[in-house]
Amino acid sequence: MLEPSIQILNKAKQGQYAVPAFNFHNLEILQAIIETAEKRRSPVILQITPTYLDKIGDVAAAAMARGVAKAAKIPVALHLDHSNSLEWIQWALEHGFTSVMIDASALPLNENIAHARKTVELARIYGATTEAELGHIGGIEDSQETGNPARALADPSGALKLVTESGIDTFAPAVGTAHGLYKFPPKINFSLIEKIGTLVKVPLVLHGGSGIPADMIREAIRKGIAKVNIGTELKAAWARSMAETLITEQEPWKVVLKVREAVGQVVAHKIGLCGSEGKA
Ligand code: 13P
Ligand code: ZN
Repeated sequence: MLEPSIQILNKAKQGQYAVPAFNFHNLEILQAIIETAEKRRSPVILQITPTYLDKIGDVAAAAMARGVAKAAKIPVALHLDHSNSLEWIQWALEHGFTSVMIDASALPLNENIAHARKTVELARIYGATTEAELGHIGGIEDSQETGNPARALADPSGALKLVTESGIDTFAPAVGTAHGLYKFPPKINFSLIEKIGTLVKVPLVLHGGSGIPADMIREAIRKGIAKVNIGTELKAAWARSMAETLITEQEPWKVVLKVREAVGQVVAHKIGLCGSEGKA
């Protein structure tokens, strides 16, 4: 069933577990996420960036994700990830997304707040959940290249100002993680997560979830993270399995089944780390 993400995330916050938010890039990855989440009885968030929507076909991608989410036997939210434009936010709301992220973190704080406030205003009309970001989360979204985590972490007073002045429902502070595969283990500032969590109260989001060691994910959840974003590891599993399978098999549905299984293993592992198994 398709739900706003705040419903799923508030339960996770109360239950002290996190909900994995998986980026999907095609039908196989989307199916692997839902099929595995259903098997593990885990709530899940499906997410996609404007860049990816643009590349794979926005209307088709939204329609397939919405359809799959509605038919799912578990709570599913459909989330627009890292949108730096209000036009894409409006588009996503009109196309059935139940959650939207405005990423105006590159702008000065007052402009970031103005974008977040406008996002909240638009999303309220549709009963959708909102997310905003503060600080700089390193790496390049939509690619597998990453640098080291940037050191521009979220500042707690800016975080409080952004959340209270915008009315945003969920909040992604930069706490030392980066997008893509890590060249070095990340240095996550756990006390910053805790401090921001006590200040802002709304569910906190951890970006750059691929490749973070298991004990660090668990610690981040203990400190207050309720949503863990994972993208790159699913793409890597898809690419590896696709390349291996195509050597001996070219019938599309047979290839798809193999690839789905490989991606599903990563999904199952992350559900385990988030502690969301059995919570649906
Ligand atoms: P990774 O691709 O590093 O897992 O990050 C995902 C993410 O933060 C999506 O917003
Ligand atoms: Zn991200």
